Amino acid sequence: MSDNKVVLNYGGNSYEYPIVESTLGDRGIDISKLRDQTGLITLDLGYKNTGATISEITYLDGDKGELYYRGYPIEQIADKSNFTEVMYLLLHGELPTQDQFSKFEAGIKNYNYIADEMKRLIDVFPRSAHPMGVLSSLTSALTAFNPKAVDVNSPSDLDHAAEMLIAKFSHLCAWTYRKKLGLPINHGDNSLNYVENFYRMCFRRPNEEFHLDPVVVGALDKLLILHADHEQNCSTSTVRMVGSAHTGLFASVSAGISALWGPLHGGANQAVIEMLEMIEQDGGDVAKYVEKAKNKDDNFRLMGFGHRVYKNFDPRATIIKKAADDILNSLGIEDKALDIAMQLERVALEDEYFVSRKLYPNVDFYSGIIYRALGIPTEMFTVMFALGRLPGWISQWKEMRLHNDPIGRPRQVYQGAQKRDYIAMNAR
Ligand code: ACO
Repeated sequence: MSDNKVVLNYGGNSYEYPIVESTLGDRGIDISKLRDQTGLITLDLGYKNTGATISEITYLDGDKGELYYRGYPIEQIADKSNFTEVMYLLLHGELPTQDQFSKFEAGIKNYNYIADEMKRLIDVFPRSAHPMGVLSSLTSALTAFNPKAVDVNSPSDLDHAAEMLIAKFSHLCAWTYRKKLGLPINHGDNSLNYVENFYRMCFRRPNEEFHLDPVVVGALDKLLILHADHEQNCSTSTVRMVGSAHTGLFASVSAGISALWGPLHGGANQAVIEMLEMIEQDGGDVAKYVEKAKNKDDNFRLMGFGHRVYKNFDPRATIIKKAADDILNSLGIEDKALDIAMQLERVALEDEYFVSRKLYPNVDFYSGIIYRALGIPTEMFTVMFALGRLPGWISQWKEMRLHNDPIGRPRQVYQGAQKRDYIAMNAR
């Protein structure tokens, strides 16, 4: 018996597979020789037990409700840091010195504009287009205006690509917002920090003097920090998978945006508010919807509840719930949706169905309430998530390329038809 390998007995033979050690959390069984040796593959739908890579960026413990960026607990980061510093931390692995921070910020500001042709592209989308579809297309289109491929062997090339995408992506997010509201687009202002600049690009009206509201900027900063990375989630795995074919950074991120859009992933923040509005319009009978969510013949789910990894509580939800309370108080907003959310939370957290399945409110249960209080249209919520997740996607793409991960290419267990002969149409 040894705890650094597992032994598989199969077909009268015995095979050994080494354990890959971790610094925290899950250790892995290296099964890379399994198929060659035994003719077997592993089958793990939804990758619930499959480690796709070895990473040093983000750690989370779903049972304890812990989340660390590069080792720093999310509670400390959300309380003490700012989004620009977090972007640096994720990308470079360490907190920056003042000098490193200034250079990083200047590098982003260097790209704080977009080619005019990009504006023509956004003009051709109908206003009814979903902002996530627009964002994914525009991000892919950025490639056309920045055609030089990133040389992953050059640290400065990697830095510039990251800074360029971070700067330009904030324009694309702000522009999709302006498009939705039919407002003229704003360009960046280098006298502001990253979040202030984004806020101004979104909210500055052409016919009014613009004021930065520090409460709103602070809430936005916190939300972006909380979404900045979350290890191998669906969109991040997509970015890594696409990038593993040595596809460029912008195209890989564009694929990640599409993955994030889905209501089981980032699209949940939009789905939560739509659900709360529906419950409110239906008379506010929270218990009725909790029953619907429990009914297996009904495909209704309580959006914003449950998480693939967190089976205790989502530490981001705890931070964001407080932030939602603070911002509603400070802006003097009374939101019926928040009342319904609080009732839902109470009922569900006491219900045996939710308790036994360890279904707790996740980060998206509360983020939509803040975005709504800031006057951001519901369809834009997932775009806000994408802006927050961008540094995570870039860091993971960079790590994947620097670790030289092989192209992602899973196997399958085939259960389709046996070999058969083609039959001409008139004979079928
Ligand atoms: N409402 C009602 N029942 C639920 C919910 C829910 N929100 N979530 C899970 N369940 C039930 C399932 O029906 C299943 O019940 P069963 O064991 O009786 O069949 C059990 O809980 C386990 O659910 P799975 O779908 O197997 O859990 P999984 O880990 O695959 O899914 C997911 C996690 C997708 C997040 C799921 O909980 C869900 O759909 N939640 C609602 C959407 C949501 O909020 N997504 C945001 C996730 S956070 C993020 O991406 C930032």
